[in-house]
Amino acid sequence: QRTIALIPEMIHIARLVHDYVIGNASSRRGKHTVNNIWGEKKAVLAGDLILSAASIALAQTGNTTVVSVLTQVIEDLVHGEFLQLGSKENENERKTASLIANSCKAVSVLGCPGPVVHEITYQYGKNVGITFQLIDDVLDLTSCSDQMGKPTSADLKLALATGPVPVACQQFLEVNAMLMRQFSLPRDVDRARQYVLQSDGVQQATYLTQQYCHEMIREISKLRPSPERDTLIQLSEIVLTTDK
Ligand SMILES: *[C@@H]1O[C@H](CO)[C@@H](O)[C@H](O)[C@H]1NC(C)=O
Ligand SMILES: *[C@@H]1O[C@H](CO)[C@@H](O)[C@H](O)[C@H]1NC(C)=O
Repeated sequence: QRTIALIPEMIHIARLVHDYVIGNASSRRGKHTVNNIWGEKKAVLAGDLILSAASIALAQTGNTTVVSVLTQVIEDLVHGEFLQLGSKENENERKTASLIANSCKAVSVLGCPGPVVHEITYQYGKNVGITFQLIDDVLDLTSCSDQMGKPTSADLKLALATGPVPVACQQFLEVNAMLMRQFSLPRDVDRARQYVLQSDGVQQATYLTQQYCHEMIREISKLRPSPERDTLIQLSEIVLTTDK
């Protein structure tokens, strides 16, 4: 089960590296990206290398159910990436939900033969993933510069379809215009961020995260009581109070 915990982490890192290349991101949360430091070719290969290490670790579990559950994550990530190309939709929520949902499911497959339990852990993980991604999107917009570095247009673009930006688009038409031109004018990023902060977007996203968090707790409470179950319930508080 510890190996299962490592594999999605590696898949996630590979995804980030490839995302930076696709988005031509030079920095993220105040730090230089791999592609910025080493160039695109090495960054793509580095992502591939991490993914192959994950595949080897996955094969070593020797359980074909686990293999198919976790390879589903890779398919969902790549599919989401394709959908995102050339559209203003952001697929991050769906991608993160698949990553965490299938990871939780894979661990429960190893621990217990019951499909009911697998479904509960899947639903739990899905809600963890959505909550986490929403909070991440809000943090992208509200983080102050000394904590994580100011948001860039890449961060804003990443925060598009989930969370606060769509709400701001409804309230301030100008945000929509900036979105359509991909924040390409010099002061777009700063102004869009100001609009988003003035709108109800952050408040609504925060409300949504609480709903998903309740859903997380509701799902996992279907399992019989145990210290492990309590830890998974406590995780909801950790997710809600995360600040980086
Ligand atoms: C990618 O970013 C670099 C530096 O940040 C810039 O010089 C280059 O023109 C960008 N390429 C594309 C295709 O946007
Ligand atoms: C996967 O592991 C679980 C737990 O040991 C076991 O019940 C299940 O039969 C295994 N499935 C396969 C296809 O090996």
